[in-house]
Amino acid sequence: MRPQKIIRTMVKDASPGLERFRAEVMHGLRKPQKELPSKYFYDDRGSYLFELICTLDEYYIPRTETAIMADCIEEITELIGPGAFLLEYGSGSCQKVRLLLDNLDNPTAYTPIDISGQQLLQVSQELSADYPQLEVLPVCTDYTGNFELPVPGGYCARTVVYFPGSTISNFDPVPAIQFLEHVAGVCGEGGGLLIGVDLKKDPAILHRAYNDSKGVTAAFNLNLLERINRELGADFELDAFEHYAFYNPGESRIEMHLVSLREQEVHLGETTIPFHMGESIWTESSYKFSLDDFEQMAARAGFRVKQVWTDPQNWFSVHYLENSLLER
Ligand code: AVI
Repeated sequence: MRPQKIIRTMVKDASPGLERFRAEVMHGLRKPQKELPSKYFYDDRGSYLFELICTLDEYYIPRTETAIMADCIEEITELIGPGAFLLEYGSGSCQKVRLLLDNLDNPTAYTPIDISGQQLLQVSQELSADYPQLEVLPVCTDYTGNFELPVPGGYCARTVVYFPGSTISNFDPVPAIQFLEHVAGVCGEGGGLLIGVDLKKDPAILHRAYNDSKGVTAAFNLNLLERINRELGADFELDAFEHYAFYNPGESRIEMHLVSLREQEVHLGETTIPFHMGESIWTESSYKFSLDDFEQMAARAGFRVKQVWTDPQNWFSVHYLENSLLER
């Protein structure tokens, strides 16, 4: 008798509304060092531009991580074991998880979590069709806030969170630990976190990765202002701002800014935001770690490093962490 097919797709939509977007933009632009949250890069055009960045030679992260995953997939799937409930934070196009789903021993359920509802629904349906035994339970939300997780119908041996692409780099240190603590709670006893982490390297390589020759990263950065114009009715003049990204060695991070090319005023609703020439809006940080830095940060959040894999140049790392809260 053929096993019964479980195809169950549901979308829990808790995406942040326009009011929250407006409030966060206003809050950031009123600070002495103006800033905007990088999570708002990812509207439809921003997501498209990020996918394009991921194909660039200069942006080494995707190909390096993919090579590590492909080389080490047997060890990874052995650590995760059979019957896992897999959750992916910031799942995007759900391409990377396919390597895991193709190689894991009978995963029970998969929950992609993403802010972009339309893409989430489409890729969830594709995954349901391609992996008929898998329960696909998508959640549409800003995963940096509070949200409810679905409970799979089938038996799950352990919960494993997948967080590839070094998205952890885009959190400042305190929120990074808080996020990892939240994940440790989600994994529970015996659960794990499979996470991609970008490593410290020659600043010239980093500089090229965030200042690509085709200007895609610049377009990605500037698209945030275009989004604020479109969705919140602001009047940013896009050619009066310039993409500026540099490595800050003291803080071990790439900083992305948008620099005002002249003295100007921008209007958002009733509010006027003045800019001096050369003043910047800080739009993203991308932290780079040593293996020790990351191990210490994970330990503070209640995780123990079970295994780490790197590429031959030590540019990138993939960690399998286990919840060690019970040992405390
Ligand atoms: C998603 N994140 C890990 C990217 C990074 O490298 O920090 C975002 C990005 N920003 C510019 N290029 C890519």
